Amino acid sequence: MPQTLPWDWYDGTVPDNVVLEDTCYMETSQSFQLFRSRREIGLRMGAGAAAYTGAMFDVGPAGVVEIGRYAMLNSVWIVCDAKIEIGDYALISWNVVLMDSYREPFDPVLRRRYREDVAAGRSPASAPGNPIRIGPNVWIGFDSCILPGVTIGEGSIVGARSVVTTSVPPYSVAAGNPARIIRQIDPNSQSI
Ligand SMILES: CC(C)(COP(=O)(O)OP(=O)(O)OC[C@H]1O[C@@H](n2cnc3c(N)ncnc32)[C@H](O)[C@@H]1OP(=O)(O)O)[C@@H](O)C(=O)NCCC(=O)NCCS
Repeated sequence: MPQTLPWDWYDGTVPDNVVLEDTCYMETSQSFQLFRSRREIGLRMGAGAAAYTGAMFDVGPAGVVEIGRYAMLNSVWIVCDAKIEIGDYALISWNVVLMDSYREPFDPVLRRRYREDVAAGRSPASAPGNPIRIGPNVWIGFDSCILPGVTIGEGSIVGARSVVTTSVPPYSVAAGNPARIIRQIDPNSQSI
């Protein structure tokens, strides 16, 4: 019996290898239009987490996505060929792209072949991905892009429209293109 979402406005289903824990909220199965993971569990979403319309899980055959408890994804585009982990309470704003794989080859000849394969309905060979880890309590500002291999440490903030090319330590604010650390956060301060 295919998984469906009782409130779904889209006429689709949730893939069998997606685990949605009790009390999480997946707004629509449209988010799985590009989901091709063949892993036993290709995506797991923790209790209390939410993914709203516009979130897209563009997950290749070997990809795995893990979303922690109470995390929130607002129209986030996830390109995953290896593994993308999103920690508990992470907050990911509008139009953020998390990509653990560039998909298209750097070599122009191979890139042409890739386009030909797509046009002919063949699955193009994808470069292996480099996992991304978004720590617990991280906040990523709108329009940002997190590139392959990046880890963002617990409690850190990424400023709006940043391109994060290297890992960000815990409790830091990173911003810009390429993102640079602009200040530290006191993990024990409760001020805004
Ligand atoms: C990153 C952010 C939180 C930093 O706030 P802040 O600590 O008050 O930072 P400040 O405004 O004091 O700026 C500090 C420096 O960083 C720079 N900076 C701040 N945000 C930046 C950004 N997004 N990109 C590039 N530079 C940025 C400032 O220009 C300033 O540089 P300067 O010292 O050379 O003058 C905030 O700028 C931001 O981007 N918020 C995004 C909010 C968001 O996406 N909300 C969506 C709702 S879920």
